[in-house]
Amino acid sequence: MKAIVFDRYGDPAEVLEVRDVPIPEPGPGQVRVRMIAAPINPSDLMMIRGQYGVKPTLPATPGFEGVGVVESAGSGLLGRLRTGKRVAVLNGKSGNWAEHVIVPARQVVPVSSKISDEQAASFFVNPATAIVMTKWVLRVPSDAWLLQTAAGSALGRMIVKLAKRTGFKTINVVRRREQAAELQKLGGDAIVCTADESIEERVRKITGSEGVKYALDCVGGQTGSAVVRTLGPGGRMLVYGTLANEPLTFDSRILMVGAKSVEGFWLSSWVKDQGVLTMLRLFRSINRMLKEGVLTTDVGATFPMSDIQAAVRQADQVGKAGKVLLRIK
Ligand SMILES: NC(=O)c1ccc[n+]([C@@H]2O[C@H](COP(=O)([O-])OP(=O)(O)OC[C@H]3O[C@@H](n4cnc5c(N)ncnc54)[C@H](OP(=O)(O)O)[C@@H]3O)[C@@H](O)[C@H]2O)c1
Repeated sequence: MKAIVFDRYGDPAEVLEVRDVPIPEPGPGQVRVRMIAAPINPSDLMMIRGQYGVKPTLPATPGFEGVGVVESAGSGLLGRLRTGKRVAVLNGKSGNWAEHVIVPARQVVPVSSKISDEQAASFFVNPATAIVMTKWVLRVPSDAWLLQTAAGSALGRMIVKLAKRTGFKTINVVRRREQAAELQKLGGDAIVCTADESIEERVRKITGSEGVKYALDCVGGQTGSAVVRTLGPGGRMLVYGTLANEPLTFDSRILMVGAKSVEGFWLSSWVKDQGVLTMLRLFRSINRMLKEGVLTTDVGATFPMSDIQAAVRQADQVGKAGKVLLRIK
């Protein structure tokens, strides 16, 4: 079979190549999935660069999520039940950028036939993070303000739509003006463009001296640090990405006055602490909100596996039009 492989960490466009490798056999409790498509997410690119929380043994195949059809199963009831089903493939160890992949049967989730392959490919990482951060960790009440950075990202757009559905209001920080109109159209309540204005001044105008109580940051550096300064009494900021690749710098007294907090969030760690019922509830919510159009992903370009260099270059570009998808079958 064909698989995308890298045997050293580095620039994805330089280190990735397509190789012929043996088709793997599922062991007990495992299934083999014939992959259809997989998105190229920031976490995949960070993993290939050696900058991610997961460092696989090399040579390795990237790909933390995607969609495919279960074609065979090792021993075990769940695998047999899943055989023949179209599923979202949750692969925390990576490996989905290949024609066939082996995963534990509990890590494949049947997807409603009303959801396209394109949408099913991004079933888990961003939709689950959007729901868990806003509804289960921060529990943002309706009518409260939530501030988020990189709001034009695939995940940021989901949060804007989720806010409309749930009733909370969003302050959306972006770095390019062009993103403002689009986010407004989706339902973003306020847009702050860092190229034109100061985050702190604008937030002060919106919330007065109260500041924000809920914030999400995936940028870090100057942007994330400014967000910490907008927190009001009891304010909580979840850090869930490091797109600027620069540390947060702020006076720690900011946190003491008003008992504010900055916390990390990583979906992989969160999932490890959850039981089967919570995960089933989460999958049901995602299936439902994908059908409603709340957790959908705008796909900007699709590339075949053979064009992997062009695909990762596009996925890494400033101002790319939408998510880049790898078409495997
Ligand atoms: N912790 C977790 O469990 C978890 C789970 C899912 C996602 N994430 C994180 O969530 C973030 C968004 O993921 P995604 O798949 O939605 O990304 P995406 O669709 O690829 O979008 C990336 C966005 O980030 C913006 N951006 C990139 N570098 C930036 C910088 N230095 N300053 C400001 N904005 C910047 C881009 O802006 P332009 O349009 O201007 O280029 C783009 O809008 C990533 O950091 C990802 O790692 C974390």
